[in-house]
Amino acid sequence: MEIIEKRKSTRNFLDKEIPEEILEKLVSSAILAPSAFNFQPWKFIVVSDKEKKQKIRAVYDDATKRIKLFKKLHLTNVPIYNQDTYFLEKATLIVPCYDKKISYARDSLAMACQNLMLEAVNQDLASVCVGRPTVFNSHRKKIKKLANVLGAYEVPYLIVVGYPSLVPYRPKRKPLEEVMKRIK
Ligand SMILES: Cc1cc2nc3c(=O)[nH]c(=O)nc-3n(C[C@H](O)[C@H](O)[C@H](O)COP(=O)(O)O)c2cc1C
Repeated sequence: MEIIEKRKSTRNFLDKEIPEEILEKLVSSAILAPSAFNFQPWKFIVVSDKEKKQKIRAVYDDATKRIKLFKKLHLTNVPIYNQDTYFLEKATLIVPCYDKKISYARDSLAMACQNLMLEAVNQDLASVCVGRPTVFNSHRKKIKKLANVLGAYEVPYLIVVGYPSLVPYRPKRKPLEEVMKRIK
């Protein structure tokens, strides 16, 4: 619970590389997650190359622009906030992928990613899961190409991880009474 409470989506990072052995620890924690039929239908691609990260950031910004346009045209009502996306370049990007042919692969991957984000806290790191750069098909294709993701795999979101430079506040949670029900 201590680690769970400490994890907060972080968007401010120091310019500090994550050592290889710690990156390996993060992925080692991910692969201990449960997966349907123990298929382990996942891959984790680590991107630390500056140029690649800049290109991924551009995809994120382009997706933001498109969502804003859709909102203007009343085609979506998803909330969108203004964000300085420089944090994507400062951190390390982990591109989690799941095998599209495997049942429950996306669910299994989500469990693995949660493990990874919790182990990040244990390693004095912080993270944020970002779905915006992969929300549109065309953008997802670009991310897959940039991260050399094989055709059989899909990328549902990215995990941005690094050493935090600012401790964020935690957005409010719904009260327990609203989300927990006891049935007889
Ligand atoms: C699937 C998923 C997609 C997300 N996409 C984004 C995103 O594109 N950009 C972003 O800044 N945060 C993103 N987040 C982070 C959420 O905004 C954040 O988890 C939520 O506000 C709760 O805050 P907390 O994680 O600090 O508890 C995403 C989280 C999840 C689980």
